Amino acid sequence: MKISVIGCGYLGAVHAVAMASLGHNVVGIDSNLAKISSLSSGQPTILEPGFEGLLREGLDSGRLAFSADPEAAGGARVHFIGVGTPQKPDSHAADLAFLDDAVDSLLPRLHEGDVVVGKSTVPVGTAAALEPRIRRAGACLVWNPEFLREGSAVRDTLEPDRLVYGLSCEEADARAGRDALDECYAALIAAGVPRLTMDFATAELVKVAANSFLATKISFINAMSQACDATGADVALLARALGFDERIGHRFLRAGIGFGGGCLPKDIRALRARAEELDLHEAFEFLAEVERINDGQRARTVEVLEGLTGGLEGRRVAVLGATFKPDTDDIRSSPALKMASALVERGARVTIADPAASAEAVAAEVEGAAFFADVEAAVAGAEAVLLCTEWEQYVRLDPARIGELVSERVVVDGRNALDPDAWKRAGWTYRGVGKR
Ligand code: UDX
Repeated sequence: MKISVIGCGYLGAVHAVAMASLGHNVVGIDSNLAKISSLSSGQPTILEPGFEGLLREGLDSGRLAFSADPEAAGGARVHFIGVGTPQKPDSHAADLAFLDDAVDSLLPRLHEGDVVVGKSTVPVGTAAALEPRIRRAGACLVWNPEFLREGSAVRDTLEPDRLVYGLSCEEADARAGRDALDECYAALIAAGVPRLTMDFATAELVKVAANSFLATKISFINAMSQACDATGADVALLARALGFDERIGHRFLRAGIGFGGGCLPKDIRALRARAEELDLHEAFEFLAEVERINDGQRARTVEVLEGLTGGLEGRRVAVLGATFKPDTDDIRSSPALKMASALVERGARVTIADPAASAEAVAAEVEGAAFFADVEAAVAGAEAVLLCTEWEQYVRLDPARIGELVSERVVVDGRNALDPDAWKRAGWTYRGVGKR
């Protein structure tokens, strides 16, 4: 199958290398020349396990190429659109400008019988509004949302929990779209991945519903962590006991300083904005509460630190982690950096450690904090240590060794990831989130 992937950001780049690994001929297209030149020379543009290997394998096999020229899409039959749909600067709604540009540049290159596959996360109703333009060009449209997580994006693409096809209500287009995707994903379907067909609107909603549900689950356990703090209960034990109920499950019940990243925060806001347009304000108001609880976790953690240090003004606080979660270099909407900024605002002298984030990117987000890739340099002289991102190397830190570097042994575990007993044994005052 000849495939083009338009947009070589996180989603598009991973999709392109994954499709090439399945044996398809793929061209990835992006207007960012630096990105194209990097990918074309086998240099990964994202930190993602398995990505570099598949990128090089694809390039070496001759099945994978990248181009900044929209003309390159002309040779393909199936065109995946994986451009970003960020939050608009002046509202909570999703900005569809990149999607519109991608469609505009694709339309003149489409041939009769081509299939356009939307993968971007979009407000419900987007595909139906786009379809007439695609049909006029002789092609058909499918909406095929992507559920990949950073840090396991390659595996999530090649071994997804499910494939979702949003199909046209025109029967011939629906059949053509479904058949083309079945061919693209033949290996996955043969391996038993469930494949669900539905209308455009349902497919668009599946994606935002999944992310909103996950965000709600996190805020739920974070609200419970407050009840635990108030009563001396332990949220980790509570979550473990809850999770054995198969209807609830263990995952996404880790209490802490909350969720961040390029998707969850943006997607719940975009769903609320779309719900307003659909006159469903009341039904989706709870998502505002989900966000309020999320922000509140940071504020509460600042208070805990304030209490433990007897006031943050002039205090040296080492923040461990800058990325929004471990195993990525992504700092978008990172709870760790929100914490760091809040501490700087309270007058603390803040150092930030992270093994993957770039110093420049962190400096652009947090003013007045010093960044160190090396954790020991960041904690040297600290009066309090705050774990914000549960990188494996931070979880495994030796509390006795770190204790020799700091001036006060106070640790706040913003991810409930450290072993409280080990830290206490080494003479630390330990505080987790919702833990006795
Ligand atoms: C998310 C969705 O999981 C994925 O399906 C979708 O395609 C894109 O958005 P991602 O943004 O990579 O993926 O991160 P995810 O692993 O979902 O974590 C999001 C945030 O939630 C992180 O900040 C993480 O630290 C936090 N989190 C996660 C918790 O605070 N507690 C948990 O129990 C789980």
